[in-house]
Amino acid sequence: MPATTDGMIGRQIAGYRLERELGHGGMAVVYQARDLALGRTVAVKLLAPELARNDVFRKRFEHESRVAAAIDHPHIVPVFEAGEAEGILFIAMRYVQGRDLRALLDRAGPLSVRQAVRIAAQVASALDAAHAHELVHRDVKPGNILVAEGTDSDHPEHVYLTDFGLTKKSLSLTGLTTVGQFVGTVDYVAPEQISGRPVDGRCDVYSLGCVVFESLAGVTPFRREDDFALLWAHLHDPPPALTAHRPELPVEVDQAMARALAKSPDDRYDTCLDFVTALRRAVAGRGPHAGRPQVGWAPTEVAPALRLPPPEPPVPPRPPQWATPVFAVRESASGRPFLP
Ligand SMILES: Nc1ncnc2c1ncn2[C@@H]1O[C@H](COP(=O)(O)OP(=O)(O)OP(=O)(O)O)[C@@H](O)[C@H]1O
Ligand SMILES: [Mg+2]
Repeated sequence: MPATTDGMIGRQIAGYRLERELGHGGMAVVYQARDLALGRTVAVKLLAPELARNDVFRKRFEHESRVAAAIDHPHIVPVFEAGEAEGILFIAMRYVQGRDLRALLDRAGPLSVRQAVRIAAQVASALDAAHAHELVHRDVKPGNILVAEGTDSDHPEHVYLTDFGLTKKSLSLTGLTTVGQFVGTVDYVAPEQISGRPVDGRCDVYSLGCVVFESLAGVTPFRREDDFALLWAHLHDPPPALTAHRPELPVEVDQAMARALAKSPDDRYDTCLDFVTALRRAVAGRGPHAGRPQVGWAPTEVAPALRLPPPEPPVPPRPPQWATPVFAVRESASGRPFLP
């Protein structure tokens, strides 16, 4: 773990008094905190001290937190301040009351079609806005999608995307990090990130596709016995059919998912909203050539009885031996994987 909660509660970091831990991932701890100058509640993220010593990460952090702070978008968590205090990189941002999509999926299982599309549309608009500023998220996953209460029954949830550019995945997968640093889940990582090719907004289209798949299927598109096999699957295996998990959905949904999850960015949707528009049309039973969605469009809700447990996929073959040295995965003491 980076900074631990022990001894941090009550401490002041750059004008913020840490009050309680909200959660932590592999490289940071997020606290609810008091902005002492303005007397408001904020969220403060403290990044692991070793990240401050990684020049590549640090440069990206400085650049991308500045760009992210400059984007004013209703579905991007506003960043108030980013910097360094006592050798720790920190970000102060809006405190979002609610839970993240990871917790929502873990608690409620697959979402209704309507809710999944509503959440996807909000995340897509945030991503496209970021891409318009030349900012690629690189780590779109349920843990980075915060779900707050919405304004009314037409908008039951308000979704915020967070953690722009804060992933170490591309650094690690291209060998830029030191051995043993945690890179987090590779369930949503695009093939070009794995192979170290340049990334653009279409890597976020891929990851959003994985998130939508999981929101509807209850499982990520590729499930493999270890991270080698999972990375291999992202690179080479065709994505499974979502309709195998949600048989009530039309096959056009599979076509939309297959395009979002295409191995080559050139074969994907150009924008995240293009993907969500195609998804909307597909679930509404309208193909790509049909008219625009009607005002008041409402896909059929899934009857709970139809939420059958997904069929077990066949055990995929392991990647060939020669592939494994490229992704030397180690296990941490906690059993979570490390990638050097
Ligand atoms: N602005 C915020 N307001 C409220 N809670 C937040 C905020 N930002 C993050 N959190 C909570 O803190 C938790 C930890 O966030 P963090 O980004 O460290 O971990 P993660 O995204 O789950 O994993 P990873 O380290 O792989 O990115 C999140 O899951 C979320 O619930
Ligand atoms: Mg996060």
